[in-house]
Formats: sequence, C-alpha cells, structure tokens
Amino acid sequence: MATPMISTSGSRPYHVIIFGASGFTGQFVVEEVARTSAEGPKGTLKWAVAGRSRQKLEKVLEQAAETLSKPELKSEVDIIVADVGEPDSLAAMCKQGVIVLNCVGPYRFYGENVVKACVENGAHYIDICGEPQFLEGMQLNYHSQAAEKGVYVVGSCGFDSIPADMGVLYSRDQFKGTLTAIESFLTVSSGSEGSCIHDGTWQSAIYGFADSEKLRSLRKKLGYAPLPVVGSKIKKRGTLFYSREMDQYAAPFMGADPSVVKRTQRYLYEERKDSPVQYGAYAGIGGMTSVIKLLFGAMLFWLMVNFSFGRSLLIKFPEFFSFGWFSKAGPTRKQMAESSFCLTFFGEGYTGDQDPAQGKPNAKIRTQVKGPEAGYVATPIAMVQAAFTILHEPKSLPKTGGVYTPGAAFAKTTLIDRLNKHGIQFSVLSGPEA
Ligand SMILES: NC(=O)c1ccc[n+]([C@@H]2O[C@H](COP(=O)([O-])OP(=O)(O)OC[C@H]3O[C@@H](n4cnc5c(N)ncnc54)[C@H](OP(=O)(O)O)[C@@H]3O)[C@@H](O)[C@H]2O)c1
Repeated sequence: MATPMISTSGSRPYHVIIFGASGFTGQFVVEEVARTSAEGPKGTLKWAVAGRSRQKLEKVLEQAAETLSKPELKSEVDIIVADVGEPDSLAAMCKQGVIVLNCVGPYRFYGENVVKACVENGAHYIDICGEPQFLEGMQLNYHSQAAEKGVYVVGSCGFDSIPADMGVLYSRDQFKGTLTAIESFLTVSSGSEGSCIHDGTWQSAIYGFADSEKLRSLRKKLGYAPLPVVGSKIKKRGTLFYSREMDQYAAPFMGADPSVVKRTQRYLYEERKDSPVQYGAYAGIGGMTSVIKLLFGAMLFWLMVNFSFGRSLLIKFPEFFSFGWFSKAGPTRKQMAESSFCLTFFGEGYTGDQDPAQGKPNAKIRTQVKGPEAGYVATPIAMVQAAFTILHEPKSLPKTGGVYTPGAAFAKTTLIDRLNKHGIQFSVLSGPEA
C-alpha cells in the first residue's frame, strides 16, 4: 500500500485543496486531512484550504490548530480564495491542486462550476454529494471530457455513498459463488444528548425532492439500458414494513445509495462483465411512536416541498419541520462523539456449482459496515481516504479518467483496508452457507 504519492510540481504545489473548508462539514474535513497527513513523514502532504472568505478560512485553521493541538497548521497550510460565481478564481484554484475536495453544497446550485474547472484545469475531483440528479448530470455532461483529460471525478464519497457502494462490493467479493441480490439496513444511534444533521444537508434534500421530475428526464437522456437480472428477482418491500432482520419498523432509504450502487453495478457489468447485483436500501425507524412521528413529518414535508412558499418555510425553520433531526447549528462535538452508524447487508446468491439461471439462491451472506457518526465524522474519513487512494494508487483506478461512482473508481484499490484502519469497519457476520 505504501506506494509513493502522485507528486506535486512548481505550478501545481498542493496534493489536496479543500474547497468549502469554512462550511460545517468542511471544517471537519480540514481536521481529518490534518490527522491523516500526520500519519506520513512530516511535510510530505502539501495541502491548502479554499473558500470565498479568507477571514473564515483563517478562523477554520485556527480552530483546527487548537482542537488538534497543532499550532503549525496556521502557518503551514495555505489559503486560496475562490468563489463558485467567479470562474477565473476556480480555474486558478484548480490549477494548483492534484485533487480538489469539494465541500460546497447544495451541489445542484454550486457543484457544476467546480467540476468544470477541475476537468478543464487537470485537477482530480471528489465530493460528498448525496444528490443523484447532480451526480448523474455530471456523468452525462463531463465523463468524456474528463476521460480525455485524464481527470477522475468521483462524487458521493461521504457517508452517502461509500459505506453502501463499497459494502456491496465487499459482500460480493467475500461471497463464494455469484452474489445476486443484497439488501442493506441502516441504523444510527446516539448518546444521551441525541444528535442531528446540519442545515446544509436539509437544504440539499429539500431541493432534491422538489426537483425529482428532472431526475427522470435526465435518466432518459443518459439512455440507461435495463441491467439484466441474474438469479431470483429481489423481493420488493413496501414503503413501511416490519423488518424481522432488524426487529423494528423500516422504510426505503431516501438518500443517494440505491442510485449510486446501481450505477456502480452497471459500470462493472458493462466494463468488466461482472455479474450485476440487485440492491435494496432500507433504514430502521424504530417502534410505533417513531413511525407515527416519521409519517406525520414525511406528509408535512411532501406537502410543503412542492411549493416555493412551503420550501422557504422548510428552509427557515429546519428544526421545527424536521422534529429536531436537522438544525442550523448542526450537532455538537459531544453529540457527534456519542453517535454511530451501522449498515447491515443481507445477501443471497448461488454457490459455484449452482447455475444462477436455474432455481432459487442456495447461499446467503451477512456483512456489516459500521463506523462513527455518519455526517461529520465518517464522511470526512471516507472523503479523505478516497482522496488518498487516488494519490497513492493511480494505477488501480479505471484505465481512463472520467466521472465515476466510488465503487467504479475504487473497486480494485485498497480503499476498504484504508477505511478499516480509520474507523469505518467492514466485516462478515455470517455465511456464505450452502
Ligand atoms: N454525503 C454525506 O453523507 C454528507 C455529509 C455531510 C454533508 N454533505 C453535503 O455537503 C454539503 C455541505 O454541507 P454543510 O452542512 O457543510 O453546508 P454549509 O455549512 O452550508 O457549507 C457550505 C459551504 O459552501 C460555501 N459556499 C457557499 N456558496 C459559495 C460560493 N459561491 N463560493 C464558494 N463557496 C461557497 C460556504 O462558504 P461560506 O462559509 O463562506 O459561507 C460553506 O463553506 C451539502 O451538500 C451536504 O448535503 C454530505
């Protein structure tokens, strides 16, 4: 794993530039880069923070220096001022970095200019977007150009959707035979003070739901052919059901995971002739009280999100309309320290001696990806490890640049080992049993 990093040069002096470092998530990405760079010989990783306000970026470095007891961060990490609305400033930023870690969202509003600037100026790009419309739109608009330029654009490298996408690949690789279908169940837990998600993600979700019609027309343009179904068809679950697997009520997971996993499976099928795995993603809700709260909240959200007045109320009062699940202040460090996530995968398939075209699956596997608080601890870890994988393992990435999902980009790399070493643990719980 200890291969040398892609090197910087006089005109491209930084390995990593964190764009949007002053945002709620950006500040934790800064801390994670500082921690990860300290694992190597001092001064090996050259990095900078970027954003539209120099003053805010200085404050972020000060705060990180204090939290991590690393006063040197204030002098060793450079600051780049760049604004999404000023393309020249973005181009100047992208010319200076090997990889840009983009933390500026909602991506549907701010992301495309950054992708474009990276592709045109030869910087690899990673984001933590959970908005399928943006992710798939970038694939439609920039894949060929990124391929020509040898630039890797890898979206959804946060909690959305590295655990799910890499978790499916991990399960497939651990399965002895052909894994044909897998379901994941997400549970999150928090300590006595509870937890919440920052407003930035709430806004991304509001605009995402409001725009769901556009995603359908985008997919028509992408012209996806249906993926072949190998083995028994995955069972369809309702919008709300009691899950015996988790011993609680569950509902389909509303994030980007299903769309990202499907794109990965399509890529691996089309490029490598891998047998595609069907996927269903669910989230645990809890008991009946949580179900009633969620149903009421979902109905209210759905009614309001389709009207501009409703949307502005949702945006103004995140805490009220999400029953405290989202807030403008975001979780406290204590809440984050006491929270965790667990994604359990239930897979089924056919052992090597059994033809998937005949009969029912004859083997099962149960795997797990678990880690610390999802939004602001696991997400920075996943994003930074994805960036380090590009820096250290360029030969294991797809042959050409392009716009990729995490699974497509990192299937042949050691990303899972890197995540295991940094607190996001992949493990086999049971199986495969014939
Ligand atoms: N995948 C995941 O699991 C995951 C987890 C966490 C977050 N996210 C996503 O990450 C994104 C950020 O979330 P957040 O909560 O960190 O939001 P946030 O606190 O509002 O941060 C937004 C950042 O964007 C910057 N920004 C806004 N307009 C800009 C412009 N014109 N030019 C340059 N920078 C600009 C802001 O700069 P200023 O500081 O100057 O205002 C700030 O740094 C969201 O899309 C969220 O959904 C995803």
